[in-house]
Amino acid sequence: MAVPLPLGRPVRVGIVGLGRIYDLTILGYRGNPDAEVVALCDLDVERLADRGTGWPDAARFSDLDAFLAADTDLVEVLVPTPFHCEVVCAALAAGHHVNVQKPMAVTLDEADRMIAAAAEADAHLRVMENFIFYEPLRVLREVVESGAIGPPAGLHMKMVATGNGGWEVPWETWEWYFQMAGKDRGILMYDDGWHKYSVARWLFGPVREVRGWVGRTEVGPGIVIDAPSTVAWEHTSGLRGTWDVTFAPDMLMRSDYYTNDERFEVTGRKGFVRVNRCTARGLQLPSVEVYADGELRGYHALDDDWGSSFRTQTRAPGLPAHGRGSGALVGQRGPGGAGLLPRCPRVLPPPGAGAPGRVTRSNRAQVSAVLMEVPAARPSSRYWVPVTRVRVTATQRSELAMRWWSTVRGSRAAPTASSCTTVLALARVRAGTASPTRPSRVR
Ligand SMILES: NC(=O)c1ccc[n+]([C@@H]2O[C@H](COP(=O)([O-])OP(=O)(O)OC[C@H]3O[C@@H](n4cnc5c(N)ncnc54)[C@H](O)[C@@H]3O)[C@@H](O)[C@H]2O)c1
Repeated sequence: MAVPLPLGRPVRVGIVGLGRIYDLTILGYRGNPDAEVVALCDLDVERLADRGTGWPDAARFSDLDAFLAADTDLVEVLVPTPFHCEVVCAALAAGHHVNVQKPMAVTLDEADRMIAAAAEADAHLRVMENFIFYEPLRVLREVVESGAIGPPAGLHMKMVATGNGGWEVPWETWEWYFQMAGKDRGILMYDDGWHKYSVARWLFGPVREVRGWVGRTEVGPGIVIDAPSTVAWEHTSGLRGTWDVTFAPDMLMRSDYYTNDERFEVTGRKGFVRVNRCTARGLQLPSVEVYADGELRGYHALDDDWGSSFRTQTRAPGLPAHGRGSGALVGQRGPGGAGLLPRCPRVLPPPGAGAPGRVTRSNRAQVSAVLMEVPAARPSSRYWVPVTRVRVTATQRSELAMRWWSTVRGSRAAPTASSCTTVLALARVRAGTASPTRPSRVR
């Protein structure tokens, strides 16, 4: 049984997995009076010897069982995602609270097992999500809530994955990411996607319907990047969001971390607020801009270093590494926690078909948000389920789509039938010649 929190003393922390993300995780512990790192663990003995210079007194373990027998309150789980379930369940059973990196698990079954293990041990299980602690995104949310841009009308997120210009990621690290990608858990849609869907849910609450068009770019023999991809969803409030992901491997992107060029924009009835960059040093504009009433306002003095979001998430009052002070130590337990675990209805649109799947009780623990539902990287995964359906004839469809295609591409090459449907729907609605029928609802 885990020692109940809060403790009234610094939390004793053990860290397992001293790979790439360890470098950012430790920002939350360095100089943190509420926590002391007392144990380190990695299967790789060289790494174990090289890392952890900030904690010379910490015990070092290359054996997980021995590490879990150490006297720690909280275990930071930073091992590759396919091992999250195994390591988290073992840590919980050994009486530790757990903070595990996103994505929580590879399957829903694993997530359920982790949640059950936390309940069984009466321990806190929290999934670490740093984006919602990134100051520019927090300011964006404050602006939306302030009403400065009017009632929110839409969320647009854009990402260009470049892979050119950031920090070194060892090949052993990429290897397991690519192995997961080969099993429909793509690096962009599934792994990084966790962050983006978390932001969407944190801003606008639960999602009731998801549509996706997941692309596939082979960058080497058997190595697939799940882009270009576009995902669209509707929150239960009716507000819609989109996330558009492009892969641009030749684009140099200056970054201290990964090379994702990101934008987040909320459009309101009378203005918009946008975050111009996040992980990388993309657009050198103010990190947050607000347009309303004909004026553009920029925030120039925010802490817009993405690494800071790791520090903030660890130190946020009420989170596991916050051992003292007035705030109760309330790590999140299960998906019904304080909203940090993205919960999302399961939607399984069969490739090429229009019918979305159903929301059932068994998928309430939906963890990797939208991603587990979008069948990423299937051989024939290029499909688009129309967002808006209008009744049109086949002739009208191809005429309109062809017109759009030649305008955009300067070519008369035939678009695919599926792209026609969407384009047509949008064109007709914009032209006022058709009222959109509601897309079929998830029940
Ligand atoms: N929050 C973010 O922005 C962010 C960014 C990158 C990665 N991550 C997540 O962090 C986790 C780790 O990713 P990474 O890129 O640091 O991976 P990595 O491969 O660089 O590091 C993993 C480390 O775990 C060790 N390890 C593997 N199995 C182990 C076991 N059973 N016991 C002890 N040690 C073990 C490996 O030797 C390695 O040193 C993943 O879940 C990943 O999705 C999050």
